[in-house]
Amino acid sequence: MSRIVLGVAGGIAAYKACLLLRLFTEAGHDVHVVPTANALSFVGETTWAALSGNVVHTSVFADTHEVPHVRLGREADLVVVAPATADLLARAASGRADDLLSSVLLTASCPVVMAPAMHTEMWLHPATQANVATLRSRGVVVLRPAEGRLTGADSGPGRLPEPEDIEASALACLADRDAALRMAAQDLAGQKVVVSAGGTREALDPVRFVGNSSSGLMGVALARAAVQRGADVTLVAANLAVEPPAGVGVVPVVSTSELAAAMHAHAPDADLVVMAAAPADFTPANPSGTKLKKSGDAGLVVEFTQTTDVLAGLAARRPDGQVVVGFAAETAVDEADLVRLGTEKLARKGCQLLVLNDVSGGAVFGAPDNRVLLLGASGLLGRAVGSKTSVAHAIVDAAQSLRER
Ligand code: CTP
Repeated sequence: MSRIVLGVAGGIAAYKACLLLRLFTEAGHDVHVVPTANALSFVGETTWAALSGNVVHTSVFADTHEVPHVRLGREADLVVVAPATADLLARAASGRADDLLSSVLLTASCPVVMAPAMHTEMWLHPATQANVATLRSRGVVVLRPAEGRLTGADSGPGRLPEPEDIEASALACLADRDAALRMAAQDLAGQKVVVSAGGTREALDPVRFVGNSSSGLMGVALARAAVQRGADVTLVAANLAVEPPAGVGVVPVVSTSELAAAMHAHAPDADLVVMAAAPADFTPANPSGTKLKKSGDAGLVVEFTQTTDVLAGLAARRPDGQVVVGFAAETAVDEADLVRLGTEKLARKGCQLLVLNDVSGGAVFGAPDNRVLLLGASGLLGRAVGSKTSVAHAIVDAAQSLRER
């Protein structure tokens, strides 16, 4: 159990922080909420106290014998500010200590994650962007806001990312301080990353398909890690069971042939291409144009043809400097056997990095955690265990190290 301080600034998105708070407590963390005075105009103290199960700290002058602004910051394992308004970012960037939350930010030595939410004009204003750059230069993780509908009828970048999205990035920072530093440093700025995620569906008729149980969680986690490290990310999304992360361009696809077309369209100028999707290996040879009908007691025999291997195709057309990453789920007797199977697959597919899962003990599909080996042409590069977002950061790190060679 970690101790998380959840700072809430005064914006309408404060209501979403209630859901974020629930996610943190359900994950077993001890959450202390520090709302600003303006945040309390949106969501009251009672709500924060009931949801956190802790006393809510609202003033530097309450419980002064405990010196709350020093204690809260010092004892925190993670500080998350959601929503972070333009005013909060400005106060944090200039080191103000004019209320409890800004004071806590000055005393915290743990990772600090801020999730901005404001109107597009305020987000894009040079003053706000300069404040964000200042905070990042000091190691603060300022998440990229989502695009879409704002409070009024307008839309654009400035929306608070969904609570699950903020939680995933925040907990990755809690688990791995280096990941937090790379997010703050925006180490993928200027890079283009293309990720596929989910499972394809191959039509049998207009209403039925053959599919698989890939949720898309791992690919979504990779897209999230890359976008929060500053990359321009395209997510080729095949029937995702989870929401895509904030800030990525989403290209929806259904079948393996659509996925292949989308990947080949977006990959040529990418620095990193990741095939985290589970494309079907076979597709019905003659899908019916009309709904298949039962005929007496007869069963159904369907002929399948093999689909194209998207990963191998991308690797074959790889421009210089690009890193192509594949995934492999294998059943192996031990780690040496797993590495042997992976090495064969890496060579067969022609990719630079293979993320290897041992699925002998049960499937990883839909699970929040993952345990992988990272394999390059030269052999085992490393291993990663943890939430899929933490593992995603390790995969991006391994791909970056291959790029820099
Ligand atoms: N893949 C792909 N196109 C396909 C099938 C798989 O690009 N038609 C990609 C997956 O996205 C993954 C990698 O290939 O990155 C490994 O998938 P896997 O199913 O393990 O590979 P196969 O070649 O089908 O190997 P096997 O014969 O072991 O099933």
